[in-house]
Amino acid sequence: MSKIRFAADVIRNGGLVAFPTETVYGLGANAFDETAVKRIFEAKGRPSDNPLIVHIADKDKVRELAAVIPPVSVMLMDAFWPGPLTLVMHKSPAVPPVITAGLDTVAIRMPVHPIALALIKACGLPVAAPSANISGRPSTTRAEHVIEDLFGKVNVIIDGGSADVGLESTVLDVTVNPPMILRPGGVTAEQLESLLGGIAVDPVLSIESTESTVPKSPGTKYTHYSPKAKLIVVEGDLERVACEINRLIEVNILKGLNVGVLATDQTKHLYPGAKVISAGDRLNPETIASNLFNALREFDRTDVQLILAEAVDDSGVGFAIMNRLSKAAGYNIVRV
Ligand code: TXA
Ligand code: MG
Repeated sequence: MSKIRFAADVIRNGGLVAFPTETVYGLGANAFDETAVKRIFEAKGRPSDNPLIVHIADKDKVRELAAVIPPVSVMLMDAFWPGPLTLVMHKSPAVPPVITAGLDTVAIRMPVHPIALALIKACGLPVAAPSANISGRPSTTRAEHVIEDLFGKVNVIIDGGSADVGLESTVLDVTVNPPMILRPGGVTAEQLESLLGGIAVDPVLSIESTESTVPKSPGTKYTHYSPKAKLIVVEGDLERVACEINRLIEVNILKGLNVGVLATDQTKHLYPGAKVISAGDRLNPETIASNLFNALREFDRTDVQLILAEAVDDSGVGFAIMNRLSKAAGYNIVRV
């Protein structure tokens, strides 16, 4: 029996399978099996009011899950599926409320990773899958990360190497006009804009927004992606950022703290006083997206108590990088 077949049988029998996707690893269960879906929430320690994305391997399956398929979503599926785009549509009665946390909408995605597609196809069922991490921790982009968080809590972990995109899918609400980005991700706002002409962005995503703004995507209200150490993001002109980070290194070393810096290939030599990890290449921000969660988890394996992170430009995939970094820092952002 092939390994995929084995994992698919585990899902069909109500078990949990962690599997690679192009964005992050997912923790999958049969989307139509309420008991299995509840096990996902238990394994992750996930609040039950945070709905799950349903994964499919064939565009036609949307018809089973959505009550209405807006014409704009057909354009979006043609352009970006399979890939890192999740579409929020009105749900059909077939989708159990445990998936949608009682909302009347359902989030649907067709991943492009060959293992994810093969697994969902072999199940012959839609697969509910959040990111395969303990709730609140950085998402998992390698099988080792999944083992760290979920070993013993899931039936199968499929190792597919490093996730390519490294950040989760873009969540786009197509029940409104123009469609609204609820979570920035692998498909950029610019890509959506150029296809659709206009898109909206949930106001809660502006970094300045206060805690009192109610997000439309329930998951965006929780503290997320947090490494064990305290994290501060420093934003502004790069030279000033480096100066401020060096000042903060000095101040905090005097306080007796072990300090780390999340830098980039271009700046990693600037902080001799700290444990430095490069997230990637500023000229190729996709490398930063791909390595961000891994870098945060790498700090967890050191004795660093405070991480100072350089901000990146928030255009393109930078929007999603800054969204994850700001949340990981609990919006602790210094502007220079
Ligand atoms: O890339 C991804 O999307 C990964 C891989 C595994 O596919 N999955 C993922 O799932 O990131 P999760 O559960 O970690 O994040 C799902 C996000 C949450 O912010 C959740 O609130 C939102 O999607 N969401 C799910 N259903 C929704 C709905 N009906 N309306 C609005 N937001 C929804
Ligand atoms: Mg998640």
